[in-house]
Amino acid sequence: MELEITTVQQRTSKILIGDGWAKSAGAVGARRVLVFDHHLPQWAAEVRRLVPVDAALALPVSEAEKSLHTLETVYQWLGEQGVTRDVVVVALGGGVLTDLVGFAAATYLRGLRWIAIPTTLLAQVDAAIGGKVAVNTAFGKNLLGAFHLPEIVAVDLRFLTTLPLLEWRAGLGEVIKSALIRGGWLYEALGHLTLPEGPFLSEWEPVIAETARIKVDIVNQDLYESGPRMFLNLGHTVGHALENYLGYGSLTHGEAVGLGTLATLRLSELLCGLPETVRDTVTGWLNAWGLPTRMPALDFDTFWRQLHRDKKARSEGLTWVLLEAIGQPVLVKNISRDTVHQVLCELTSG
Ligand SMILES: NC(=O)c1ccc[n+]([C@@H]2O[C@H](COP(=O)([O-])OP(=O)(O)OC[C@H]3O[C@@H](n4cnc5c(N)ncnc54)[C@H](O)[C@@H]3O)[C@@H](O)[C@H]2O)c1
Ligand SMILES: [Zn+2]
Repeated sequence: MELEITTVQQRTSKILIGDGWAKSAGAVGARRVLVFDHHLPQWAAEVRRLVPVDAALALPVSEAEKSLHTLETVYQWLGEQGVTRDVVVVALGGGVLTDLVGFAAATYLRGLRWIAIPTTLLAQVDAAIGGKVAVNTAFGKNLLGAFHLPEIVAVDLRFLTTLPLLEWRAGLGEVIKSALIRGGWLYEALGHLTLPEGPFLSEWEPVIAETARIKVDIVNQDLYESGPRMFLNLGHTVGHALENYLGYGSLTHGEAVGLGTLATLRLSELLCGLPETVRDTVTGWLNAWGLPTRMPALDFDTFWRQLHRDKKARSEGLTWVLLEAIGQPVLVKNISRDTVHQVLCELTSG
């Protein structure tokens, strides 16, 4: 399947779903270099078998290493390889790697073309699509960034066959949010979906393709995040605050977003009249996939301050993404402290 994002300057980013991307990737640019997650040497070898590259660099990958320091390593290496503006950078790895290498491509020589080959569920359905690239600084996540669309995003499920279950769970928050903001087939399909066992991924292929399609569709409406792209933050306001409050690594991103989504749905029941059956359905998915459905005990004052540290909390206060119905997200500003407190208490106790 082939999807396309087009910018106002008529630049396009092709999202190729399936295993037939190599021919297109090999046709982009006369010279290519590969930067890959150092945990994935076997996939780097497979990419090099399919697409000729002049040189390859293995990078360490973690939130702590999504840094200026690692970025400098990439710039240094591009310099050593004598990279000129006609060279295409191929990035192979999860969202940390594609965000960082995409940012290097956005900035080196004022912009190199690049190809993203995402290898995690989270990156295949979300992070690698839509051109947002970034690194972290000591002051927060993704503070140095750019919009720089890859020429091609190769969504090839073969790369997911080595992904540990913990990392599958980390990406499920994005699948859930897309199902809720768009509804339709994906919302119906998730009820029948179990975690993959070993390399048997066939029932995931249409789910990944549909989640990617929803992201492409939203980015096409709003590349620079001034409107509908904000809906992709569903479940993430509370989710990010939970990750920060508990410290990175205590909950996976998917676990935090799953809990954040339950809080969002309860707020939507109170403020937008959403029926409780939606929250029951999502709770069923989380249980089936081994994700938590109860909030950890929190000191609410500290948590409330953490919520307002969110990058997306603009000067006028927090904007929440709630649901009026399945497939009908709305932006709601400044929900009262008491309402949020009540909801978190409900989701913590039995
Ligand atoms: N740009 C965007 O629009 C956007 C959207 C969402 C998230 N993100 C970013 O994505 C990042 C998270 O991405 P992630 O969850 O993919 O994390 P990640 O890149 O850190 O990968 C998670 C772990 O899985 C390993 N791994 C990757 N692919 C593997 C494979 N095929 N087999 C075995 N192990 C594999 C990695 O080495 C790593 O240890 C965050 O930094 C977040 O800010 C960006
Ligand atoms: Zn997310």
